[in-house]
Amino acid sequence: MTASATNDTLMEDIVGLCKRRGFIFQSSEIYGGYNGFYDYGPLGVELRNNIKQAWWRDFVQCRDDIEGLDSTIIMHPEIWKASGHVDGFSDPMVDCKESKLRYRADQLFFAPVIVNGETIGYVSIVECIDQQEVAEKAAAEMKRKMAKQGELDTIVLKEYTEAKPEQYELIPSPATGKPGSLTEPREFKLMFETKVGPLADDAATAYLRPETAQGIFANYKNIVDTGRVKIPFGIAQIGKAFRNEITPRNFIFRSREFEQMEIEYFISPSADWKTLHREWIDTCTDWLVSIGLPREGISEDIHPEDKLAFYSQATTDLMFQFPHGEQELWGIACRSDYDLKQHQEHSGKSMTIFDETAKEKYVPHVIEPSLGVDRTLLAVLSAAYTEDEVPNDKGKIEKRILLKFSPKIAPVKAAIFPLLKNKPELVEVAKRLYKKLQRRWNVFYDASGAIGRRYRRQDEIGTPFGITIDFDTIEKDGTVTLRDRDTCEQRRVSEDELIKFLEEQISG
Ligand code: GAP
Repeated sequence: MTASATNDTLMEDIVGLCKRRGFIFQSSEIYGGYNGFYDYGPLGVELRNNIKQAWWRDFVQCRDDIEGLDSTIIMHPEIWKASGHVDGFSDPMVDCKESKLRYRADQLFFAPVIVNGETIGYVSIVECIDQQEVAEKAAAEMKRKMAKQGELDTIVLKEYTEAKPEQYELIPSPATGKPGSLTEPREFKLMFETKVGPLADDAATAYLRPETAQGIFANYKNIVDTGRVKIPFGIAQIGKAFRNEITPRNFIFRSREFEQMEIEYFISPSADWKTLHREWIDTCTDWLVSIGLPREGISEDIHPEDKLAFYSQATTDLMFQFPHGEQELWGIACRSDYDLKQHQEHSGKSMTIFDETAKEKYVPHVIEPSLGVDRTLLAVLSAAYTEDEVPNDKGKIEKRILLKFSPKIAPVKAAIFPLLKNKPELVEVAKRLYKKLQRRWNVFYDASGAIGRRYRRQDEIGTPFGITIDFDTIEKDGTVTLRDRDTCEQRRVSEDELIKFLEEQISG
């Protein structure tokens, strides 16, 4: 990120680059787009897969205490009654009757404008990074327009959910700037409904899962019964989740169809859950750093006790400095035995486990690290986006856009270039090397255009290494030029050294 790039322009730059280079497209674009849905193009799907693979390798394959699962998106509707989603999974919504726009009431803020103790009106604003500043300016403007003399009180913004009924008529709609058109907040159900089977009656109502977690709880018994696990152990799942978000926004940060990487980590009810929770927070932070996020961009938001869900003992969110502000990336919650006990009650099946070490039977408690794939991808893109200046082929300094992806998750690992495309002897060696590397990694072959331009094209999609086959390769010692994306430094390496180096950088 350049020091000068504002957050707004950074988001615009990322969205533009994603479309231009085939990372992410608005869904159904040829029909004008579909709000809250995104498609991943050739490079996006590689990046996404690499993130998921890194997570799966580090949390499932490299750990002896976590097993994998892939459960269905549509499950028995009773699961969502037991989990509390049918009755409780909703967001407060407010409508503007005039503009027909809809807001999340907890993302709409208002404040009275008070001059010398007299309330002269209200300001309202949709949540944004500089909302305090914007609200203060709006209040000062109101005072000026109404020609009020005296001291303007400090503007204290509150969520619209905290507005009193008598204030609804007085708070202006952010869309029109006029009071009187906002409704009172109403609960809006976030689960998408569908019908299963030939009869479209109420009994056929089913839901697209809003989290993958319940598929884990519903299969907990199966995994325990296969006898592979003993307390403490986890079950991990990667999969799509769907939420009819009232205000999907900030690109892929909040969408209606997204993917989660979730773990339910089952522990003894008498375990030191506070220490285990802390260990999970640290492990998750380290993992984010391992895929290239800067440690200083990650912070912790500890939910205050009075704001915890009734079943939660503690929740800490790992926050990331996204272009639109510091926001939740990874939720790490201690969910007690709430979910398993709910399923035990609703299904009539015992959810107890026999703890061989403690020689006792109990329903375990759970720690839940829950991460969004799309949010991780946006964090990775935000951290990687860089603008700098480098000399071109003729030595003239020019602006360059690059994505500084870690080689571990970069969509294309290396690009192979013959120095000249009209020299068959260079092309032959380059193609042979390309085919060899392609068997192990996603690599790219490019013979067209000046070499500097070819480097730039790869820099912009975050390819960490450029490999050029030149006359020294074919006439002297067989070495190739290896170029580093970030420093632009070049060195000659043999083919064996090259493969060892790539192996270390990508998989090491
Ligand atoms: N099982 C717990 C659970 O689903 P959550 O905080 O609602 O908790 C977990 O979601 C993670 O899923 C979030 O931290 C975020 O990374 C991702 N996520 C949630 N809603 C999302 C949305 N609408 N769009 C993209 N990612 C979302």
